[in-house]
Amino acid sequence: MWLMRALLGLLGATLVGAAAFVALAWRSEIPAVEPPNKAAFDPALVTRGAELTMLGNCNVCHTKADGRAYAGGRGLQTPFGTIYATNITPDPDTGIGRWSEAAFLRAVREGVRRDGSHLYPAFPYDHFAKVSEGDLRAIYAFLMTREAVRADPPANVLPFPFSMRTLIAAWKLMFFKVGEFRPDPVLSTELNRGAYLVEGLAHCGACHTPRNGFGAERNEAYLGGGETEGWHAPALNASTTAPVAWTADQLFHFLRNGYVPAHGVAAGPMRPVANNLGAVAEADVKAIAAYVAAIVGPSTAGRGERLGRAGASGDQHSSGSHADGRTADGAAIYAGACAPCHEPTGQRFSARGIPLASSQLVTSPEARNLAHVILEGIAPPQASPAAMMPGFADTLSDAQVVALMTYLRSSFSDRPIWKDVEDTVRQVRRSAAEGY
Ligand code: HEC
Ligand code: HEC
Ligand code: HEC
Repeated sequence: MWLMRALLGLLGATLVGAAAFVALAWRSEIPAVEPPNKAAFDPALVTRGAELTMLGNCNVCHTKADGRAYAGGRGLQTPFGTIYATNITPDPDTGIGRWSEAAFLRAVREGVRRDGSHLYPAFPYDHFAKVSEGDLRAIYAFLMTREAVRADPPANVLPFPFSMRTLIAAWKLMFFKVGEFRPDPVLSTELNRGAYLVEGLAHCGACHTPRNGFGAERNEAYLGGGETEGWHAPALNASTTAPVAWTADQLFHFLRNGYVPAHGVAAGPMRPVANNLGAVAEADVKAIAAYVAAIVGPSTAGRGERLGRAGASGDQHSSGSHADGRTADGAAIYAGACAPCHEPTGQRFSARGIPLASSQLVTSPEARNLAHVILEGIAPPQASPAAMMPGFADTLSDAQVVALMTYLRSSFSDRPIWKDVEDTVRQVRRSAAEGY
């Protein structure tokens, strides 16, 4: 009898718990509206929205390779599966043409669709929650005045239980806070502007902050180095591995132009971010740079000293503890394939082919970025198409790339050689072949 009662009690508690969760998870549908008249939006608001959209990289995620702007369909690889960015053009059937401003604001700040279902945090609304209502209205005005494109994104590829959107409600309970940015009265106006952008719209932490097992950013390691699309996004805080200390001025030029002589280029997923920052108000990029400069740590003395020796070319600076049989081959490959463009004395040394001792790709805790650049090269920047870093996927075997990377690491950095660099090279070559 008591067993029966206990079981019933347990069942009751489970049901109450489930009902409470469903109630918490439930969001109402916001009714569809007639697509707004484009001419009704204030042109000044639309112009401001255009810049804010660049700061938010909405174009980067919501446009697939060779696809129409904002029409979605680009797949984001997450540890849980592939999530496709949606169509955010004003198409009434496949885009957000029937979304009211209120529905749009709720989606971007709370991660809830017009129909009430929860959105995956691959859409960085955990950052966008901090964006002011005024800024979001401008973005809405900009998007609603774009050309409507009819396009449905492919279905997400997520195994059960991650395919259940209700589960996102539990994630939000644990990791998500709704609430606008609050300026810190102790900081200057510029630093507050920088913090507002970095933490909010520009969502630098979405790539540069490490995530926990649930895919949520670890706040205690803010900007401590994360990952995105098979690349490592380096630390921008005290654990920076930059061989040269970043100054606000260098950060400004790097973010604005995708290149600064002391540090090199913005490659991989950082390139489109820098392209966007090249198109917004200079004062905003200055504010971002000032804020990041206040967080980022100095470079270590050892790194500076090694840098002093860089450019002297060659094998003599590989320290005994690092050396192994592979570095000899690596040195020969470097001398033949890389030195002509990367040594200041080389015949083809160009303004942008920086000495590799000052490249963060060589001092990085992860070998992936260097492997990407060696195998895939870097697409030449629009502004200077001659600055071409060629890819070596067809000329160097995996073993040669490993030897070269081991040589670069031991000669041009003060770091221990990477572990499992063979696996890294193999994986990067495979992902390049798959096309992302
Ligand atoms: C890092 C990539 C990324 C960025 C940057 C991004 N989005 Fe998205 N967005 C997504 C993904 C992925 C989804 C779909 C999530 C899902 O299916 O649950 C999405 C969904 C949305 C939705 C919901 C649309 C629908 O039909 O459900 C809106 C609205 C939206 N994004 C607007 C924006 C705006 C505005 C910006 C810029 C301020 C932006 N996004 C930036 C990845 C991104
Ligand atoms: C034809 C000249 C050329 C050759 C050969 C070349 N590079 Fe480059 N490399 C460049 C240029 C130019 C850039 C800057 C690209 C840009 O501005 O987008 C660059 C960028 C890089 C970067 C990024 C540096 C940073 O942090 O900014 C790395 C790493 C690199 N090259 C490594 C190599 C290695 C290793 C080799 C030999 C296998 C090599 N390069 C061969 C011209 C070259
Ligand atoms: C889509 C992901 C992504 C976003 C968003 C992003 N970054 Fe990056 N960032 C990267 C990756 C990947 C690299 C490494 C490639 C490289 O060095 O060019 C990088 C490199 C950098 C570097 C060079 C660090 C070093 O020590 O060499 C700086 C500085 C930087 N990012 C700043 C920012 C700032 C500031 C923001 C926000 C305005 C931002 N990033 C947003 C992915 C991202």
